[in-house]
Amino acid sequence: MALLEILHYPDPRLRTQAAPVTDVNDDIRTLINDMAETMYAAPGIGLAATQINVHKQLIIIDISESRDHLQVFINPEVMSKESEITTEEGCLSVPGIYESVTRAEIITYRALDAQGKKIEEKVSGLLAVCIQHEIDHLKGKVFVDYLSRLKQQRISKKLLKQQRQAM
Ligand code: NI
Repeated sequence: MALLEILHYPDPRLRTQAAPVTDVNDDIRTLINDMAETMYAAPGIGLAATQINVHKQLIIIDISESRDHLQVFINPEVMSKESEITTEEGCLSVPGIYESVTRAEIITYRALDAQGKKIEEKVSGLLAVCIQHEIDHLKGKVFVDYLSRLKQQRISKKLLKQQRQAM
């Protein structure tokens, strides 16, 4: 297993559109293991392949308290949305920033699991929000995009300064 480098906003590579996974094979499962190690070490509750500069439609989520319930979503798609919820979101690609974002509260999604088996499920609350946040990454979108232009500029400036200081 290996720890992977997470891209930080406003890195333009976070704008890349991810391509569908055509074969759920051992290479994909190795990538999932490395992503899981990276997410748990960060620590975070979700990670999209885009964030580690791999542009495949693959996301992982673990919202459990015990940090031992990894969920894998390959080629995820939201089929329907119901109702709205506003929650405070953060992102491993936007360290230290937490802002309110409104999304669908209930979604029905389709995806493949780590064995390539089809999943279709209706979920709500934090898991629904997380799936939408991570699917956005696969489309080149970051939660900061939902904020005002002024907030986006402030966050961008702050993170660029942090990145320069880290060099
Ligand atoms: Ni994120």
